[in-house]
Amino acid sequence: MKKSILAICFITSLLTTSCQNKSEDKEIEIQETIDNSEYTDWHSYSNPKETNPEHLSLDIAVDFDKQQISGVAKWKINPEKGVDKVILDTRNMQIDSVLYADGNRANYALGEADEILGAALHVSLLPETKEINVYYKTLEDATALQWLEPSQTFGKKAPFLYTQSESIHVRTWIPSPDSPGARFTYDATVKVPEGLLALMSAENPQEKNENGVYTFQMNEKIPGYLVALAVGDIEFSAVDERTGVYAEPAILEMSAKELDGIGKMVNTAESLYGKYRWGRYDVLMLPSGFPIGGMENPRLTFATPTILAGDKSLTNLIAHELAHSWSGNLVTNATWNDFWLNEGFTTYFEHRIMEAERGEDYAAMLWNLSERTLRGAVEDMGADSPSSQLYVDLKNQDPDLGFTDIPYEKGSAFLMLIEQTVGRKKWDNFLINYFDEHAFQSMTTDYFLDYLDKNLLSENEEWKKTIHIDTWVFGTGIPENYPHLENPLFQAVDKQMEAFIQGGKAADLKTDSWGAQEWMHFVGDLPTNLSIEKMEDLDAVFDLTNSKNSEIADLWYLLALRTNYEVAYPAMKEFLYVTGREKFLDPLYTEMMKTENGKKMAKEIYEIARPNYHPLTQKAMDKIVIE
Ligand code: BES
Ligand code: ZN
Repeated sequence: MKKSILAICFITSLLTTSCQNKSEDKEIEIQETIDNSEYTDWHSYSNPKETNPEHLSLDIAVDFDKQQISGVAKWKINPEKGVDKVILDTRNMQIDSVLYADGNRANYALGEADEILGAALHVSLLPETKEINVYYKTLEDATALQWLEPSQTFGKKAPFLYTQSESIHVRTWIPSPDSPGARFTYDATVKVPEGLLALMSAENPQEKNENGVYTFQMNEKIPGYLVALAVGDIEFSAVDERTGVYAEPAILEMSAKELDGIGKMVNTAESLYGKYRWGRYDVLMLPSGFPIGGMENPRLTFATPTILAGDKSLTNLIAHELAHSWSGNLVTNATWNDFWLNEGFTTYFEHRIMEAERGEDYAAMLWNLSERTLRGAVEDMGADSPSSQLYVDLKNQDPDLGFTDIPYEKGSAFLMLIEQTVGRKKWDNFLINYFDEHAFQSMTTDYFLDYLDKNLLSENEEWKKTIHIDTWVFGTGIPENYPHLENPLFQAVDKQMEAFIQGGKAADLKTDSWGAQEWMHFVGDLPTNLSIEKMEDLDAVFDLTNSKNSEIADLWYLLALRTNYEVAYPAMKEFLYVTGREKFLDPLYTEMMKTENGKKMAKEIYEIARPNYHPLTQKAMDKIVIE
């Protein structure tokens, strides 16, 4: 309500007297605040705008035998006058009872279950209700949870659990207003088996305790998709005062070494975008079945161990998740249709952080790899596919379908184009203000474009004519004014590649100065009709089949499939058995399914590998390999 009054003040052309009076009131600042009634989140049944769920107190137990979380979610709410029910999101969840703060039972009902959205939990409110306590249990197909057997961990001795709540999976483990525009603070008490450590996207313990009961506190308002939990045989290693690494003991030392730059990285990010507002920044290195690269859970990034290349060459993934501490966690996409605001900004920031740390030529490589990814994605989906728009309409669809390369690579390129058009100084200034003014708020595409116009682009009419905002944001395909970056490092690689393809020998390639990105460019760009002899030659000199760098290995295996280079298959199989990262699995299985022999191999591998994959990855791979 407060927000909409402010917005009206703003809309009716700022500072009418009545609003001005309010602005003198310290509590209420007049700024360009989003009117919450201006947008609809189609992916949530909940009614946070009317009920204001401000704080969650979670009291849960984690049962590995039953693979179940059970307990109570206590919601402090602040309903508007006359609102007689609170609606929370749930999916595949058992609700045992709902009580008011005084212990009396509340009337509640679960709505019909929708396959994507789950079932709305309607709880009746009394005029004085300020708290409702929902007692619940998770069920088998809670898509946010991955329960690992000891055999699926590095240590092989203890089980492991982690959550992945983005985009709409928190509702499978916490009955909640599961809309990215609904923010709340939380505290939690989590009981886990003795000998295991529990961590959340909150103030965290650094050591195990004897009773297995851990408490957590998140004092900043966050959306539900950023609530996270991990439980396992986990230990901590400090990097500096405010940063550190958590991992299983078996990979802790390796992880801490690979990530010993994260303290500096937070400083670098702060120098670009303003103060880091979350207190500590730690990284949790997960077992290899983690289905994605990383997840920006506040204060505690969850990361795939596939970035442990041994040479820090894949730590841009950490830069990415850290960058979300501004884009995404501080200013959050209001709906999943606006997902590019989270990921496009973050990819842009990731490149800026890496540029600040490793220089322009390095960043240019990241931009070039981005461009290749974007061109590949648009080719696959078709240049006129609505999925290739930055703003997407995901109504009636699973919002996870918006998790394509488009919001990342097209989104970041759009921002790069603005930077190039207005100049870095003005753009950076704009960004710092944008994050500052909208901290802990949600953002729609329309609002952002309006804000961009008012606070930056209106300064010079030529700028808008150069950028073509609508083509970028609402149009399909890749706009003609894509801001391609020339890149001396890749140009040097291209020259060598040309010589190699034209009959040169692998041993003559000058690769001493190549880092992982040059190799990714090289292997990713080699022609798919390369002869077996050439593949053998490369392998003999560089042992690519056994590359320890997951990104290079993945590209090499893909090329091996396309060139029928069978020598690489055993290593590829091993890779597919242990790695659960969908970005790596998808292209390999898809490629195998293109031929009869490949199909047979894919099915054989998949049968063994499938139990290792996250439930959602299983679903996605089932579509490729089985159906
Ligand atoms: N927030 C995303 C992960 C995500 C997106 C999970 C949508 C579920 C739905 C995260 O920040 C991310 O982008 N991860 C990338 C890392 C990369 C771009 C460096 C990934 O996992 O590949
Ligand atoms: Zn991201």
